[in-house]
Amino acid sequence: MVSMFACPFCRTVVRFQDEGYLCPECRRRYPLDDGIPNFSSRDHYWNHLAPDQMEFMLEITRSHGYRYAVENILGRFKDPELVRYALGANRADFRSVLPITSSCHVADLGAGWGAVACGLAPHCAQVTAMDTNPYTLRFLAMRAEQEGIGNISPVRIDPLDDSRLPFCDSTFDLVTMNGVLEYVGSATEAGSPFETQVRCLAECRRVLKPHGILYVGIENRFGYLYFLGTRDHNGLRYTSLMPRTLASAIARICKGEPYRTYTYSYSGYRRLLAEAGFRPPAAFIAVPNYRDPRFIVPADDNRAITYLVRRYAAYLRRRSWRWAARLLFGHTPAAVCGAMARALSDSFLLVAEAGR
Ligand SMILES: C[S@@+](CC[C@H](N)C(=O)[O-])C[C@H]1O[C@@H](n2cnc3c(N)ncnc32)[C@H](O)[C@@H]1O
Repeated sequence: MVSMFACPFCRTVVRFQDEGYLCPECRRRYPLDDGIPNFSSRDHYWNHLAPDQMEFMLEITRSHGYRYAVENILGRFKDPELVRYALGANRADFRSVLPITSSCHVADLGAGWGAVACGLAPHCAQVTAMDTNPYTLRFLAMRAEQEGIGNISPVRIDPLDDSRLPFCDSTFDLVTMNGVLEYVGSATEAGSPFETQVRCLAECRRVLKPHGILYVGIENRFGYLYFLGTRDHNGLRYTSLMPRTLASAIARICKGEPYRTYTYSYSGYRRLLAEAGFRPPAAFIAVPNYRDPRFIVPADDNRAITYLVRRYAAYLRRRSWRWAARLLFGHTPAAVCGAMARALSDSFLLVAEAGR
């Protein structure tokens, strides 16, 4: 059987043979684990639950259904917020700003619990859901089956830091990375996180068709919540706001490891994407954030942003935040509101066309 898979090492198209894939060139074998193609050559684990807890979660998913497992294991024993994170029907609402059609082949990189893959699947031809974590991939396969979604294919890959996706050039119409690019630098200590992220994005460009689209949902390095003490991706406070060398020194002292979960400002993301060969992105701001999008506005539409932040200020959780938002945005001209929102927004949705 001819496949769209290519050997991640030598890029030769692999053949399906003996319950797995074989590279006819370098003779590497890639097995199917529980029916999921495994192109991983090294272990990498990132998840809210430890592997033994994930085994239990999978058993409950099999016996009681994925929704019950999320609500009663992830939600009850870990964090109730994670139920919405894993199941929220709005998690993939960013599709409204993407040119997604029923013939699209989508790659969801870092698929996690599958909220994005399951949200996109009804709107396209095929979703290839990739992750390094074999447990969430198995969860996702069961979830898709239980939901009756037949067009999601889970695939286990290597961490994205060394840029080897197991696909031929120009395979996908759309690549999505929702909450993933910030972690790409943390799976290795080689090179700077910026270089690692550029390599990963360039690999996304390779597997995209000419004029294919990359979507990245990610935090703003200077997001207002970071100023208010929200923890950065490395678990520490204020590190994203610091110069990288200072953040790294503090992370080494507090966590014994350097600072590698880089996020950027609005202009920083434009530089990063340009470096990887993408055209200047269309940027959007989601309220409250890209992880739970309720409203999405173009980041350069000052009037829409002004309307939204003024309305949204009334719903902020803490009185001091509501007060600060009213002070900042209450009577400020739209151009200034827009500039402040771009500078301080929690996160960005970036949509970039692959340049050729
Ligand atoms: C924060 S979760 C996001 C999951 C999903 N995209 C969503 O929005 O619900 C990050 C996912 O990226 C994967 N991941 C983290 N670092 C990675 C890396 N270096 N290479 C590939 N995947 C990685 C993790 O296994 C995890 O499933």
